[in-house]
Amino acid sequence: MFAPKFSFEQEQQFFLDIQQSIENKSFERLILSQYKGDLADLEKMTFRMIELQGQPTLTCLYHHTTQDITKNYVMDEGLEKIAELLAQSKQANLFTLNQDIQLKKNKKKAMLNIQKKQASATKVEQHQHNREKQRYVQQHSPFLKHLGITDEKGQIIPSMARKWKQINKFIEIFSNAYEQIDASQQELNIVDFGSGKGYLTFALYDYLQAQDKIPLITGVELRSNLVEFCQNVADQVGYHHLDFFEGDVRSYQPDERGLNEASLYPSARREPRSSDLDVMIALHACDIATDFAIHTGIRLNASMIMCAPCCHKELRPQLKSPDVLQPMLQFGIHAGQQAEMLTDTLRALLLKAYGYETKVFEFVALEHTSKNKMILATKRKDIQQPDPNIMQQIQALKAMYGIEKQSLELLLQDQMPVENLGCKC
Ligand SMILES: C[S@@+](CC[C@H](N)C(=O)[O-])C[C@H]1O[C@@H](n2cnc3c(N)ncnc32)[C@H](O)[C@@H]1O
Repeated sequence: MFAPKFSFEQEQQFFLDIQQSIENKSFERLILSQYKGDLADLEKMTFRMIELQGQPTLTCLYHHTTQDITKNYVMDEGLEKIAELLAQSKQANLFTLNQDIQLKKNKKKAMLNIQKKQASATKVEQHQHNREKQRYVQQHSPFLKHLGITDEKGQIIPSMARKWKQINKFIEIFSNAYEQIDASQQELNIVDFGSGKGYLTFALYDYLQAQDKIPLITGVELRSNLVEFCQNVADQVGYHHLDFFEGDVRSYQPDERGLNEASLYPSARREPRSSDLDVMIALHACDIATDFAIHTGIRLNASMIMCAPCCHKELRPQLKSPDVLQPMLQFGIHAGQQAEMLTDTLRALLLKAYGYETKVFEFVALEHTSKNKMILATKRKDIQQPDPNIMQQIQALKAMYGIEKQSLELLLQDQMPVENLGCKC
């Protein structure tokens, strides 16, 4: 058995407790915090057990200041990683079925605090069940065949391998973020703007169903052929709470009574839902369609907003960069990257100003798609007014770059004229 050496006896004991809880299957999660090692901006790490391809796996969510990164480890490798990170963290909390243990260290000493719990047979069963549920998309799910990702035998079609990877990554990010919002309710109102061929919409439905949730998902898409295609697939695979509607993100107007009450969608087949939106998704919705989508998410009080913006056209013609940057911006690609960075920074700051904890990070590596950035926001607090300090930062950035019009800001201030928006992707 792997037996690392630690500075303190209590730390050694704590590590043995982790190993033991994994062996006797009582391990729930491990949180390492107050990290003092070399990894930049790392705030805390959460380890959990999942099953990947039938193998017990330790998955770690690394919470950095501005992004979360998940890494999976086979068991021995995972334990080595835990030992390494434990030695570099001043606090650790182990949650098991029978007890919660806290380890606190300073330079001179370490302390263990143990709280026993009552473990019931039902709880153990539930724990096993939950662990079985911890997987992302199931390769045998029939929707994958309908969408052309798997073949008749349920094998991934080679040309769709990247899409498959992207889908799984998306669900992985979703499930990690979802744990941070109130996950107790059974029904979840979700809207997917610019749902396209529905790859991610179906995957999310499949995943949430497997978590014993009732996902009420609406895909909104401009192109009627895709809407029809997706609705047919939803009907064929029996996803009764998954609806697709032909509509424009800009004019999506769910009223107070429920998401499907929008006059835009008279053919809605469901009863009206509750007024709040739980999750707003807009993946690769073109240009300012992303701003409209984020605005709808904020306005409907969404607990989670996930978007992967694409084709950032709005700010580029407005940009007046400082002279000192001209040598850099003479290269066209940099001008584009700058416009993209500024656009997404303003969006992320606006989300923060409106009470959302916001992260901007790489969605899938560049070799899989060029559209690889995600803005992930989770609601932290209700606000009366947007945070004045953040609004000041926004104004300073806009002033420096000479930006006069940014759609999300105008929408949030009710000053946006509805113009035609064409997808030129
Ligand atoms: C690049 S695709 C992404 C599809 C899907 N979200 C995904 O990530 O696989 C973008 C989709 O957004 C749709 N779209 C663009 N602008 C839109 C708008 N204003 N309202 C609704 N859908 C829009 C396009 O028709 C297209 O199908």
